[in-house]
Amino acid sequence: MSKGTYYITTPIYYPSDKLHIGHTYCTVATDALARYRRMQGYDVMFLTGTDEHGQKIEDKAAEAGVTPKEFVDHIVEGERGVKDLWKLMNISNDRFIRTTDDYHVEAIQKIFRALYDNGDIYKGTYKGKYCKPCESFWTESQLVDGKCPDCGREVQDAEEEAYFFRLSKYADKVRDLLENTDFLEPRSRVNEMVNNFIKPGLEDLCVSRTTFTWGIPVDFDPGHVVYVWVDALSNYITALGYGNDKYHDYDKFWPADVHIVGKEIVRFHSIIWPAMLMSLGLPLPKKVFGHGWLMLDGGKMSKSKGNVVDPYILAEKYGVDALRFFLMRTFPFGSDGNFSNELLIQTINTDLANDLGNLVSRTVSMVIKYFGGTLPAEREEVPAEDAELVGLASGLRAVYEDAMDRFMPQNALAEAFKVISRANKYIDETAPWALAKDESKKARLASVLYNLLESVRIAASLLVPFMPESCEKIRSQIGAKAEEFGWEAAGRYGVLPADVTVVKGEIIFPRLDLKKELEALENL
Ligand code: MSP
Repeated sequence: MSKGTYYITTPIYYPSDKLHIGHTYCTVATDALARYRRMQGYDVMFLTGTDEHGQKIEDKAAEAGVTPKEFVDHIVEGERGVKDLWKLMNISNDRFIRTTDDYHVEAIQKIFRALYDNGDIYKGTYKGKYCKPCESFWTESQLVDGKCPDCGREVQDAEEEAYFFRLSKYADKVRDLLENTDFLEPRSRVNEMVNNFIKPGLEDLCVSRTTFTWGIPVDFDPGHVVYVWVDALSNYITALGYGNDKYHDYDKFWPADVHIVGKEIVRFHSIIWPAMLMSLGLPLPKKVFGHGWLMLDGGKMSKSKGNVVDPYILAEKYGVDALRFFLMRTFPFGSDGNFSNELLIQTINTDLANDLGNLVSRTVSMVIKYFGGTLPAEREEVPAEDAELVGLASGLRAVYEDAMDRFMPQNALAEAFKVISRANKYIDETAPWALAKDESKKARLASVLYNLLESVRIAASLLVPFMPESCEKIRSQIGAKAEEFGWEAAGRYGVLPADVTVVKGEIIFPRLDLKKELEALENL
């Protein structure tokens, strides 16, 4: 039975360049959260897509000598493009929106007109500073050392006729939303928003442009195209069918349960988006979660800085699941983290090859070696030896759930690995090889191996949202049926039948030679 609906989104990506590991981080995290909710029994809508308009794309297309549409088509649909990457990374999105899709264009024109008709959009003159790479307007006071506060690059003077959205009108309501509800998380981002943007006075927002043409035309004022944030943010409702007839899930899924976004676009999602929705008279999303950046050498990865890491190369070399796992296990989701190849290889070796991989293969091998693959039903518990492992495994689902519900996938994984490490230690403590030598200890040996299988079952079934394919292999090796490997079964100890039969399988996470791998990666 469905536990209800759950609508979760990623930011829609600019297809101005191929995506890098930082984008992959955000989408993998959202995918793990979406899979987690599906596993719990929610009827999930997971949306991702691409944000295809704006001057940056117009300029890039001109440089490449193609039309903007040809340019984005290539990056989104082409070989090793955005869609290919999400397929490779096993991203389980239910829908993919492109802001150049006809239904979205039609809906944006309706939304823009509705905001205009209710008096929240008016015509004025835009004077300010513009950061081209970020497509952001800034006031003088927002600049940092005269440069873009987001990316640190040069900004340009800008002045043109433009439509404005009365963001200032919603300042008090938005402040109340931020300060007095748990709309925005982590909470540290609330102070950032209130102090940097609301307290200095919210200015009205420029929402149309006349100096480029690659955008959705304002249908009642030719020459203006909708400036990118109204176009981009509205994707979350147009993709459900708001303002169009392509889809019909708006009533079912809106308001969204959570928008997962990177920290530099929290401002748009937690101030502008609620204000737009208030103006349209629509319900607000339940939550915006602003995650940190994956950094390289202390700086944010970006194509223009040239310090990007190619997710295709890493996934193909080390496996999609290993890469997905590394991203979620290593970096606390709400803060920045420093990527390095060394950290990637070490995490694969320590957690996956040594701890999890070894536990699975030792356990399965011992069941085969000592009992021909099928455990006998006789048991002998030794509470002093078993209690800690059994207690940890039995309690895992609750602590994991708590962490996942608080958007802390790293902590959820840490809890699962406590069980895995404890199980490895339990092997050393109980020394099954010694028990196997003594005929009178067969029942004890069977108990030890059963406890190991149960610990693996519970931990690995909760790792499914992070490593779907590898965990499926673990499931079949430990002889668990699908229904013994889901959310409900993860909350119970003793689910595998007493006479469970295991199946010897391939090594799931091979150990890597750190030095050799680092050299190979550096010489790519
Ligand atoms: N098009 C806008 C989003 C519109 S949502 C209505 C956009 N696109 S983006 O391609 O530049 O970035 C998409 C997401 O990727 C953002 O959430 C951004 O924070 C995230 N990341 C880009 N580089 C990143 C890292 N190095 N690390 C973590 N996330 C990063 O913004």
